[in-house]
Amino acid sequence: MKVVADTRLLRNEIDHWRKNGETIAFVPTMGQLHEGHLSLVRVANERAQRCVVSIFVNPAQFGPQEDFAAYPRNPTLDREKLAGTSVDLLFVPEVSSIYPQGKMRTYVEVPGLTTILCGQFRKGHFRGVATVVQILFNLVQADFALFGEKDYQQLLLIKHMVSDLALPIKIL
Ligand code: PAF
Repeated sequence: MKVVADTRLLRNEIDHWRKNGETIAFVPTMGQLHEGHLSLVRVANERAQRCVVSIFVNPAQFGPQEDFAAYPRNPTLDREKLAGTSVDLLFVPEVSSIYPQGKMRTYVEVPGLTTILCGQFRKGHFRGVATVVQILFNLVQADFALFGEKDYQQLLLIKHMVSDLALPIKIL
């Protein structure tokens, strides 16, 4: 498993696989990996020749009352867990690589779904999720992306986003 933080190195790997005609599956995460994530990785391996996992704690999906800094991070344990799987590449970008302008100027909104249920109580949360997922999709350029059903509202939101924006990726 290669571990890459730099988006240019990520792009090199992806380009190389694409030139060889290989398919790519992507599992975006915020770390703290558990059996649910590992089961997504196993499905990813069945569906595509290459598997990319990202670990990125996304500041844009934390509200002012939600503590981004205190979000649990355990990169060593996460890497150990992934080492026992067939992940080809672990992408661990810095905040500055994902949001290079320092502050966001462009967001992805999915009207309706972002403001009901959990979104009622976590203002801006789903906008932050949709935006980072779109950015990660642009960087990884996978054929498939896998999301757990535990966060069902998030899954629906991403499916709507992919359909509305005609993104060339299949959500599993
Ligand atoms: O479900 C998560 O871990 C996050 O919301 C996601 C999809 C990786 C976006 O940051």
